[in-house]
Amino acid sequence: MSEKTSRIPGFYKLDIKTRLEKVAEFAGLTEEEKSLLLKEGNLDLKTADIMIENVIGTMAYPFAVAANFLINGKDYLVPMVIEESSVVAAASNAAKVMRRDGGIKSKTTGPYMIGQIQVLGVKDPWYKRMLILDAKDEILAQANEQDPVLVKLGGGAKDVEARVVESPKGPMIIVHLIVDVKDAMGANAVNTMAEAVSPLIEKITGGKTLLRIISNLADKRLVRSWVKVYKEDIGGEEVVDGIVNAWAFAAADPYRAATHNKGIMNGVIAVALATAQDHRAIEAGAHAYAARTGRYLPLSTWEKDEDGNLVGSLEMPMAVGIIGGATKVHPIAKIALKILGVKTAQELAEVMGAVGLAQNFAALRALATEGIQKGHMKLHARNIAVMAGATGELVDKVAEIMIREGKIKFNYAKELVEKLSREGEADKSA
Ligand code: MEV
Repeated sequence: MSEKTSRIPGFYKLDIKTRLEKVAEFAGLTEEEKSLLLKEGNLDLKTADIMIENVIGTMAYPFAVAANFLINGKDYLVPMVIEESSVVAAASNAAKVMRRDGGIKSKTTGPYMIGQIQVLGVKDPWYKRMLILDAKDEILAQANEQDPVLVKLGGGAKDVEARVVESPKGPMIIVHLIVDVKDAMGANAVNTMAEAVSPLIEKITGGKTLLRIISNLADKRLVRSWVKVYKEDIGGEEVVDGIVNAWAFAAADPYRAATHNKGIMNGVIAVALATAQDHRAIEAGAHAYAARTGRYLPLSTWEKDEDGNLVGSLEMPMAVGIIGGATKVHPIAKIALKILGVKTAQELAEVMGAVGLAQNFAALRALATEGIQKGHMKLHARNIAVMAGATGELVDKVAEIMIREGKIKFNYAKELVEKLSREGEADKSA
């Protein structure tokens, strides 16, 4: 018997079906499993094959829409793609109690991304830093030559910053190119510019440039979202106090802050996936920003105002685009943007900040009152009921019985489906 090997020369050059055959042989995939991978849904194989390398199929996720969102006085239906139950329901419920006074407010600082250029081997870095800053206009002009379209739209490289950073390998100059990327996520434009200006930086400093890449700590591209939730809409001041105490826990303890921020990201990333954003960039930016003081902190705050109402705010980097990248290639991402109706990347960032804040509120409210499991159980029970063959009204009936009896089990669900279906048939014929 031949040894299994993952070394397949030229794998990337094969067509999808041949690649799949190789994988099937390696992993013992059945005919059914192979055809499931190849089954074309709303992302055709041809498009998938140009999006990434070594494609052997596609994978579908649930695409849902959160209702009730009123942001900056405008109504939005928010597309969300996520594998976790309860998230969409929680977002919709939270948004419902956030509709007063024009809803959630959300603003961005502007679509400024940072390109980093690392300069090594400079003996007098502080002096050379001055020379870099002095050559700002020349550096910007050279950067902007790379992207006349962006410049024509009013974007492009706008500023140059330079720091001397102490590293384990000694001091290095780190140059920041600040680029207004307009409606793009910006990685391509920024990386191209950073690479293009590096010979000039080398000439100015006499040093050697090494890395030339965007920073995902996009702290010049922040979204700020805030909301007032009236105490009477959420069960009174006791609930308000509970949510504030839950936030204080996160503010005091990084173990809790990580989970608190995970709740925010449940909303943010679900929208990012639906609109085909670089969600890893958003995650990286969020957590780096949360730790910017040297301590990992919650991205949101929750306080009680002078009238006893709950007021919340969120501030985080939000590097998203509506042109370029997968947003324009994935057919469903295009539809997601149409459902959202956003006109600019800034507007998309505003929606995502608002969703993150609402999602965070929903989690804290549940945690500070009935706990998170009750809602989860309901959905879990419904899922089990569906898996056991329940359809239509039977889904809720079977789920309800299982929850009431504390027996959320597949076999029991099957028993119930059979029993209730039989009774239903009997009723019909009676
Ligand atoms: C679960 O996906 C998210 C929560 O853990 C967030 C939180 O604890 O705040 C509920």
